[in-house]
Amino acid sequence: MAAAAASPAASGAASGWGVERFLADGFDLRRQLAAYLQISEAELTGRLPSSTADLAALHPGAFDLSRADQFYEETVGTGHLLELAAWHLGSADYIADTLRLQERFACGHLLDFGGGIGSHALAAAALPQVDAVWFVDLNPHNRAFVEARAAARGLAHKLRCFRDLGDPALPSRFDTLVCLDVLEHLPDPAERLAVFADRMAPEAIALLNWYFFQGFKGEYPFHLDDPLQIERFFLTLQERFLEVFHPFLITTRAYRLKVGP
Ligand SMILES: C[S@@+](CC[C@H](N)C(=O)[O-])C[C@H]1O[C@@H](n2cnc3c(N)ncnc32)[C@H](O)[C@@H]1O
Repeated sequence: MAAAAASPAASGAASGWGVERFLADGFDLRRQLAAYLQISEAELTGRLPSSTADLAALHPGAFDLSRADQFYEETVGTGHLLELAAWHLGSADYIADTLRLQERFACGHLLDFGGGIGSHALAAAALPQVDAVWFVDLNPHNRAFVEARAAARGLAHKLRCFRDLGDPALPSRFDTLVCLDVLEHLPDPAERLAVFADRMAPEAIALLNWYFFQGFKGEYPFHLDDPLQIERFFLTLQERFLEVFHPFLITTRAYRLKVGP
């Protein structure tokens, strides 16, 4: 299955909320985040450089499978908003390529699992070929911030936020699945891949990446790096998914469901 390149009409450019707008201001990220946190933009700018270290400092140390969910749902508070904002603003070219990739494949009902500050969910919701965006994230601040951002852009009718995939209001199958920089945060990424495969429509595309590494300086203590878990992850990936080529020079991969043996 080959996806056609997004035509201008089917890209976010037509809505004014495409990749170029993201590169200009992260979809109005600084202003919106300062407003959400009730601080000035100057204070926000001052807090961004230390946000990765601040998030790492909240972490108890070794990756603890039994407490991974609690860390994202309770411990990090608004800290992840700052860390993700610093990353999306500071590595905007990289994020922009993931948005271009999303634009190429997004259609129908799109799940953004672990959607963070919502850059991908907002960009997807602005695409005419996307009927609805289903944003799932454990962190209540991330959900509230993304809901506010969607409302500010008049996209609330196309983007809804949920805590987890067990919510009965979610569709049983998705046409596009986006899960970027999340799998290494989960207690069992192989199990999550199997759940994704079960929730994909037959022609669906999943956009996935992962970084099972705690960093050369230990800056990501919250990343899973257990070799056995990683092996199970790749076995599940090979069992259930087939990679679909895309031309973007990024670590994010596109997959469809594997059919037959
Ligand atoms: C590194 S961020 C990535 C955010 C976004 N996908 C991006 O590319 O910027 C990881 C996100 O996964 C969320 N998360 C972690 N564990 C989760 C879980 N079990 N279910 C749903 N979301 C989870 C966190 O709250 C956080 O927003």
